[in-house]
Amino acid sequence: MHRRNKFILSVIASVGLSTAAFAAEIGPDAVEFTDAGVVTSLTGVAGDPAAGAEIFKSRKQGNCLACHVNSDMSGELFHGDVGPPLDGVASRWEEPELRAIVVNSKEPFGPETVMPGFYSLAVGEHLAKQYVGKTILSAQEVEDVVAYLVTLKD
Ligand code: HEC
Repeated sequence: MHRRNKFILSVIASVGLSTAAFAAEIGPDAVEFTDAGVVTSLTGVAGDPAAGAEIFKSRKQGNCLACHVNSDMSGELFHGDVGPPLDGVASRWEEPELRAIVVNSKEPFGPETVMPGFYSLAVGEHLAKQYVGKTILSAQEVEDVVAYLVTLKD
């Protein structure tokens, strides 16, 4: 086969692959909440707890420390107390429940909670305009944060 055709074919093949991977992702409007929480992984790709810890403490992404004490991150400067401490949180909640809380805390806690929905298009009134029509975290970032939360056991 001509070299150039081969190149074009391989480009098409890789585009096809990434579309397929994307299609497997559950969009923010398609997440299914059950009494047990959000049972299905949003991406089918296991979360990375180390990446999740970075997102958790990043002031630009999760910014979870703005509202939560987390002794596992005692080296970080500011821990807010708007929400409950997350020490041992995985001993209180199962993974699907933690996923539901991070995806959209309004589902488990009701519309009054000040915790933002991190994978919801209705992020809450208190959020910056930059998030309108977008989610704060990507599906995989949610999976990473959940994988990190699961490590926080008593
Ligand atoms: C603006 C403040 C705020 C931010 C930011 C926030 N939370 Fe929360 N969170 C809360 C509040 C308040 C609650 C208690 C639920 C309620 O409203 O009744 C809560 C509850 C929780 C719970 C349940 C804890 C328990 O013991 O019951 C988890 C888990 C949690 N948050 C994880 C996170 C993670 C992970 C992040 C970052 C990705 C985050 N939160 C960011 C305010 C916040």
